[in-house]
Amino acid sequence: MKFFVDTADVAAIKELNDLGMVDGVTTNPSLILKSGRDILEVTKEICDMVEGPVSAEVVALEAKDMIAEGLKLAKIAPNIAIKVPLTWAGLTACKAFASEGHMVNVTLCFSAAQAILAAKAGAAFISPFIGRLDDINLDGVQLIEDIRTIYDNYDFDTEILAASIRNVNHITDVALVGADVITAPPAVIKAMANHILTDKGLEQFTADWAKTGQKIL
Ligand code: E4P
Repeated sequence: MKFFVDTADVAAIKELNDLGMVDGVTTNPSLILKSGRDILEVTKEICDMVEGPVSAEVVALEAKDMIAEGLKLAKIAPNIAIKVPLTWAGLTACKAFASEGHMVNVTLCFSAAQAILAAKAGAAFISPFIGRLDDINLDGVQLIEDIRTIYDNYDFDTEILAASIRNVNHITDVALVGADVITAPPAVIKAMANHILTDKGLEQFTADWAKTGQKIL
């Protein structure tokens, strides 16, 4: 399973990347806003640091304009994955980019039908947003499972990139149903290390060690 980090915060990416935890990065217009950085500059900085795919999202709504924007974003670095929304215009742009050998991440996917179209359009990644489905009482993990079944039925190469991950359970749940990749905020990835019994056990070991009066160093 590959780990992408869902942020445009360069320091946070660096911390996880130095630990070998980063197989790629995803950004979106909201994350660029949050970073307060220029999209071209911050994306270049991330691409220089991370070897894997770095998703940069187009913002135009018409296919022709998406294609122009995507080609500009693709010039930032060879590891750019051009991110397009799952609209008919986005699928048109996806097909054009894929035909020219560009990696495409089709985002804002909320149904298996949409995921089939993205695969047919040559997407390298499909991004189903599981947290946003859960927010409206639909089952995001079930969507990942359905897409897994369909892609396997037809040997589609498109990788399932589980997005809109809100908590550690989302990560383990989509891992169990075969997501190829997760993209999660740095805080959620770091929270995977937490367990109350780890904290409790460490507290006890530390207290008992102090009673021995010994030192290792
Ligand atoms: C994915 O590529 C998106 O950037 C992201 O996962 C959206 O997550 P959100 O629903 O928490 O905004």
